[in-house]
Amino acid sequence: MTGQEKFERVVSLCKRRGFVFPGSEIYGGFANTFDYGPLGTEVINSIKRDWWKRFVVQRPDVYGIDGGILSNPKVWKASGHIENFTDPLVECKKCHKRYRKDFLEQDGKDVCPECGGELTEPKMFNGMFKTFVGSTEDTSSIAYLRPETAQSIFVNFSNILHSFSPRIPFGIAQSGKAFRNEITAGSFVHRTLEFEQMEIEYFIKEQDWKKSFESWLVAMMKFAQDLGVSKENLRVREHTDKERSHYSKRTVDIEYNHYFGWKELYGLAYRADYDLKQHSKYSGKDLSYKDPDTGVEFIPHVIEPSMGVGRTFLVVMLEAYTEDKDRVVLKLKPFLAPYKAAVFPLVRNKEELVGKARKIFMDLLDAGIYTAWDDRGNIGKRYYAQDEIGTPWCLTIDYQTLEDDTVTIRDRDTTKQERIKISEIESYIQNSLD
Ligand code: GAP
Repeated sequence: MTGQEKFERVVSLCKRRGFVFPGSEIYGGFANTFDYGPLGTEVINSIKRDWWKRFVVQRPDVYGIDGGILSNPKVWKASGHIENFTDPLVECKKCHKRYRKDFLEQDGKDVCPECGGELTEPKMFNGMFKTFVGSTEDTSSIAYLRPETAQSIFVNFSNILHSFSPRIPFGIAQSGKAFRNEITAGSFVHRTLEFEQMEIEYFIKEQDWKKSFESWLVAMMKFAQDLGVSKENLRVREHTDKERSHYSKRTVDIEYNHYFGWKELYGLAYRADYDLKQHSKYSGKDLSYKDPDTGVEFIPHVIEPSMGVGRTFLVVMLEAYTEDKDRVVLKLKPFLAPYKAAVFPLVRNKEELVGKARKIFMDLLDAGIYTAWDDRGNIGKRYYAQDEIGTPWCLTIDYQTLEDDTVTIRDRDTTKQERIKISEIESYIQNSLD
């Protein structure tokens, strides 16, 4: 199976089994938009939950917020997005496909990759979506959908200082939707118009930036690997001087080895004191921090680890997808699997047996363990259907269950089965998840 075949099989599995659907499909679709189905939603919620737990709940130095998608347009003037959030757009003179010139350059192409046609001169194009607030649609009512979650963190910097009196170093984290008018055709959920980011702005003293940068790089790599992304498929790429924003002394991309090349999975940037200074200048508000020991006031510098939910979902699915003799197995880490268990009554027509199975199923749901129910077809087929969506444990309720209150529990990866007591099912699953 080539990388491209694997990618295509994952995309097809996502659609067929209810992980991700193309956006507005019944209307012929809407380019670069997708809707997460019931199983995909479970996976992305688990990714976000893990991120929030490790970077907010377990970190006394990080404060979580949930900022708005819309904000005063001055935010984007101050951040530089109105002026600088632009990409060079080129169009093929023959087939009229549009591309980002910087992406073509990265791939070493100077003609249309589709038809070899000549490309137009680049035109700069702003990536923010505009909308209007109020009943008039004139320039005074323009607002923007946020193109990154980062700015509402900077805008709330002084609120966090006043409410929590944190000591530097400390971070503010948020996960939420961001929107970009992407012009290139995406590769499934890798590049979409609407996506979720998980971002942290970590405020530091200037002299500590190198140490902090290194420790965030380690934390980001660990996050990806703990979700099941293999080390060989990750690399760190330094931004070139041309790519890097003028205010940043160092930016790296953590890239993933896709079949279409090494592509950005996450970004880590040292943004110096640029953002707080800009917001201070444009808002007229003092955004400095007063060192409680020395009384010295200064504008903190910031390290920004930025991670995408959709891109994480995609690489986690690619890494988990395996074909094993006659079955497809999605070897997701159990904590990321949509269903943690599936319950199968061996037969459908024995009331006592089905009743027992139903009780086990409802008890698992009551315990907060998301569980599937399947009573159709032969057991082998039911196992394969669960393997394909990554369910780690399948429980079969059979005639012996009626005699001794035991069930078979089958492991997704080894296919080994053992008999356990009904009373032990919940702790077996909880312990394995932990
Ligand atoms: N605040 C910094 C920032 O937004 P970025 O590198 O433009 O940096 C950060 O974006 C992360 O957001 C990326 O590494 C990626 O995971 C995700 N991301 C960015 N654009 C995306 C898109 N169009 N579709 C899906 N994910 C995207």
